[in-house]
Amino acid sequence: MTPEPTPSAHDLLAFYLEAGVDCALSEEPANRLAEPAEELPAPRAAAPRALPPQTSIPAPAIMRGETAPAPDAAIESARALAPKAQTLEDLRTLLQSFDGCALKTTATRMVFADGNPQAKIMFVGEAPGRDEDLEGLPFVGRSGKLLDRMLAAIGLDRSSAYIANIIPWRPPGNRDPSPHETQMCLPFIRRQIELVDPDVLICLGKPSSQAVLDLKDGIMKTRGRWVDYHTGTRSIRAMPTFHPAYLLRQPIYKRLTWQDLRAIKKTLVS
Ligand code: URA
Repeated sequence: MTPEPTPSAHDLLAFYLEAGVDCALSEEPANRLAEPAEELPAPRAAAPRALPPQTSIPAPAIMRGETAPAPDAAIESARALAPKAQTLEDLRTLLQSFDGCALKTTATRMVFADGNPQAKIMFVGEAPGRDEDLEGLPFVGRSGKLLDRMLAAIGLDRSSAYIANIIPWRPPGNRDPSPHETQMCLPFIRRQIELVDPDVLICLGKPSSQAVLDLKDGIMKTRGRWVDYHTGTRSIRAMPTFHPAYLLRQPIYKRLTWQDLRAIKKTLVS
């Protein structure tokens, strides 16, 4: 067999871009073939630091500038912190100071939410993409435009719906968030849902439906079915439906999505 010619740096970069890798993870290149350096000292234990003065909520255990803790400690910290936010602004501030999730270090901006926090309906996606990362708002790219059309189809827009994601920072290159990252951010989106207190919760796509609604089946099975979601203070109606990004790739499922949207509208007016 003739060996493949060695790709040039230009070809490699073009390949990475095509694969969705559009940011570097470090300022310095890492030679992963070099001999391992001397053993590094154990990471410093994370210690509490004060939150910015404008908030009254207690200081997170993991704050800006601290060494990132082991993922399990970060999940525990997120679970302990999220319920302490008394308002959405508290929660935003808390997330901004939370350094447990490494995605924050590669993201351009935190993407907290868009829409009306008084809305009766809340949509939860997975994680921001490139456009959202640049603008700091969820669902503003191509899939966001489709979400806007889906909302319009049932008489909604961003003044009558609230939109957020499980993960508020873009995973580099739009890779899927890891299970740890999802678990780490879950307490925050749960608290966000509780604070918005919508009557209806719509999870967009499988990752959101499985993580938020704790469903085991895939989206083909779960979409369009109402389930109860306990916000912590009350039980509300929740439904998984297709993620708009999936519908852009598989427009054939728009037909089923239309059925879901009609069911959502019926529930909202009843
Ligand atoms: N996909 C998501 O899940 N969320 C966004 O905000 C954008 C794309």
